[in-house]
Amino acid sequence: MSRHTNGLAIETAGLVKTFGETRAVDGVDLAVPAGTVYGVLGPNGAGKTTTVKMLATLLRPDGGEAHVFGLDVVREADEVRARVSLTGQYASVDEDLTGTENLVLLGRLLGHGKKAARVRSGQLLEAFGLTDAAGRQVKHYSGGMRRRIDIAASILSTPDLLFLDEPTTGLDPRSRNQVWDIVRAVVAQGTTVLLTTQYLDEADQLASRIAVIDHGRVIAEGTKGELKASVGAGSVHLRLRNAEQRPEAADVLRRTLDAQVQLEPDPVAVTARVGTATSGDAAEQAARALGELARAGITVDNFSLGQPSLDEVFLALTGHDTHTPKKDEVPA
Ligand SMILES: Nc1ncnc2c1ncn2[C@@H]1O[C@H](COP(=O)(O)OP(=O)(O)OP(=O)(O)O)[C@@H](O)[C@H]1O
Ligand SMILES: [Mg+2]
Repeated sequence: MSRHTNGLAIETAGLVKTFGETRAVDGVDLAVPAGTVYGVLGPNGAGKTTTVKMLATLLRPDGGEAHVFGLDVVREADEVRARVSLTGQYASVDEDLTGTENLVLLGRLLGHGKKAARVRSGQLLEAFGLTDAAGRQVKHYSGGMRRRIDIAASILSTPDLLFLDEPTTGLDPRSRNQVWDIVRAVVAQGTTVLLTTQYLDEADQLASRIAVIDHGRVIAEGTKGELKASVGAGSVHLRLRNAEQRPEAADVLRRTLDAQVQLEPDPVAVTARVGTATSGDAAEQAARALGELARAGITVDNFSLGQPSLDEVFLALTGHDTHTPKKDEVPA
């Protein structure tokens, strides 16, 4: 690598993109270490796709700077394009062609010989569990198969940086897991992945670092642990012997922990947030709560103290949950 990159695959400073009145990306700073999965987490309309498109040279920024492997995405767009690949909310494969035809065609476009293109497409179709569907037109693929052929197409020649824009949105759990496995395999080969997602558990599963974006701004950035730690120490999850004791248990928890208590869909389950920075050690507080529950004659069958979920992180950072659109949001 000829450029000075500080080990970063992506570095942006004050990146801006406006569409009329909308500041879709409003001063984004990112530093994405090479060789990792970096998660960009945000709700609908947060600016994820717009950011990715600027980094992949498909959109020209209106302000700020972005470098990919030290290359300027505007002035050195061709060099950037040679090193990145993108899949996501836009088509790369042709619906009317079969799986094999698509991959062979794209391989030929990338300059592979006829035989090499066939061999590579066969390998990828097999690796992605699409061998049986190889001869079928892509328009007849299921959502999960479609997502997998999209990713297969984007790694025909191993890119240095792969953008995956919401690769699992709308997929069933099994297909999501298959895509996750593929992402892990791609990174194991040395490719850097920038993954956008609305799913907190997806970022949690795959990414080493996460930027949380909302309304075009990075509102938090760090490792998963750092993000969680910035929000609070954790949550106590309880399962009671008797569902009838739950209202009383919730009262005890509210009193002893001075915390938000949530009644779970499961009628014997209760969750309480504990240990904000000022209120002392989370384990100590949880122990005190258990003591109080026992004194009140409430039988606890199961108890765990966990780090907060990324959902809780988002709520704490933004004051709204990930699924509540803001009133000024234009539907995407
Ligand atoms: N071409 C465009 N013209 C006008 N407004 C746009 C355009 N593209 C995006 N926007 C607006 O910019 C904002 C950010 O959109 P963007 O697609 O980047 O969000 P996103 O985080 O990818 O959302 P989603 O999760 O729904 O894909 C939104 O308010 C959107 O309506
Ligand atoms: Mg998007």
